[in-house]
Amino acid sequence: MARTHQTEAPPREQWTGQIGFIISAIGSAVGLGNIWRFPGVAYENGGGAFLIPYLVALVTAGIPILFLDYAIGHRFRGAAPTALRRLGAPRARWLESLGWFQVAIAFVIGLYYTAVIAWALSYFVFSFDLRWGDDPGGFLQDEYLQRGDPGLSLQFVPGVLIPLAAVWIATIVVLAAGVAKGVQRANLIALPVLFVAFLVLVVRALFLDGAAEGLNALFTPDWAALANPNVWIAAYSQIFFSLSIAFGIMITYASYRRRRSNLTTPGLVVAFANSSFELLAGIGVFATLGFFAFQQGVAVAELEGLTGVGLSFVTFPAIVSQMPGGAIFGCLFFGSLTLAGFTSLISLLQVVSAAVQEKFGLSRPGAALWVGIVSAALSVLFFSTTTGLLALDVVDQWANNIGIVASAVLMCVLIIWVLRRGPELRAHLNAVSTFAVGRIWILLVGLVAPVVLGYMLVSRIVTLIVDGYEDLPGWYLAVFGWGTIVFIVLAAIVVTTLRWSRSPDDFAPWPPLERDTRASEKGASS
Ligand code: ALA
Repeated sequence: MARTHQTEAPPREQWTGQIGFIISAIGSAVGLGNIWRFPGVAYENGGGAFLIPYLVALVTAGIPILFLDYAIGHRFRGAAPTALRRLGAPRARWLESLGWFQVAIAFVIGLYYTAVIAWALSYFVFSFDLRWGDDPGGFLQDEYLQRGDPGLSLQFVPGVLIPLAAVWIATIVVLAAGVAKGVQRANLIALPVLFVAFLVLVVRALFLDGAAEGLNALFTPDWAALANPNVWIAAYSQIFFSLSIAFGIMITYASYRRRRSNLTTPGLVVAFANSSFELLAGIGVFATLGFFAFQQGVAVAELEGLTGVGLSFVTFPAIVSQMPGGAIFGCLFFGSLTLAGFTSLISLLQVVSAAVQEKFGLSRPGAALWVGIVSAALSVLFFSTTTGLLALDVVDQWANNIGIVASAVLMCVLIIWVLRRGPELRAHLNAVSTFAVGRIWILLVGLVAPVVLGYMLVSRIVTLIVDGYEDLPGWYLAVFGWGTIVFIVLAAIVVTTLRWSRSPDDFAPWPPLERDTRASEKGASS
């Protein structure tokens, strides 16, 4: 009997309770995107005024698609390919390929994400003796990364390779230990340490000379920016990456919840915790930049390197060198970056490992080991060589701005329009959750999100084709940028055609549940 409703779930790993899930989901959301990306993106895109598109993006696409991920993962109880195949069965089993598309995105992001964590780990150690000396820019490019010309060099940089290997080993160990004993436990330890360390850093930053000027620079609104579509695109991209939505993570994490598990309220907690951390990071980073500008007797706007790699690995070390007690500040900053990145990396790899485990019938440690070893090898090959920094920047642009956005558009259009499953998923969310979502949720995921995201996607593709990226040669963008997208699409098609070791179709979704908030709370927290 393939599709009878059953109440007993097939054995599946579980979080030990609601708190374990919420902490792990926050651990996934709060990552490099919050500390490394948000402050610079906000500053470049209208400062205080950026908060408007940011909040609009959060409410119109971020939270609705987070709920969509949760509903799919919880109702169909599987990693992204399994859950989407089950959702599509019997007529649209091909929906599995969207799951592999998402898995491939998580896989690619994991490869370079690890490299940035490895750098942060190195810089944590370098902070003790301010190893970058008087020229942090030169130190990063020439001594630490030993940066070469665009291409694929096979000259490995031991200073990157060693911490990179250490991060991969730690990730494999956590994944092999399982959802409750590995992923949840790692988050329960790392997240409180991260919050305390980062809070100490922000409070310290606020007492530095010039901190107020830094905050003025960040929050003074440039209202004209709101008329620029690129500012809105930046806001939506930031929300997707930061909330870890539309690339399989939240589908997979929700699949480990019990039957009666509140979904929407924890979703709101995760979304607001993530945005609060993002704001906190903006405040900490810009208060520190205000100090730097004050020291140099210039305005914050005249400083260089206020975004991305430059901000974290050149500007911050320079500031740390000038600050009384700078070594401690450096340790707090790079330690926070390492922890925030690590808890997100675990979630990226859990997506891949769980999907491979389910499709090929591997044991959990077996899947963790295979996925970990293949990922580690590719990550070492591409990102621990002298050309790693350039490759990282290009792959990140394409995977994020095209890969994740395309995945979100496809998910919304296919599930809401083509398969018309919006009402069923809404009923599921409402049956288990204390906070019910109205029909407006279907309107947001079915219409508003795909229209806005579809526009973003097309305009981004056109810009990258017409203008290229960062003056890099066309062949390089073709290989590392467009090549990344070709790889993701091919992986999705090829893996979908491979045989399942055990059919995922003899499964019934949770039968419709009575809306019972008391039971939901009880079941969720037990
Ligand atoms: N959500 C993770 C981040 O913000 C991927 O870095």
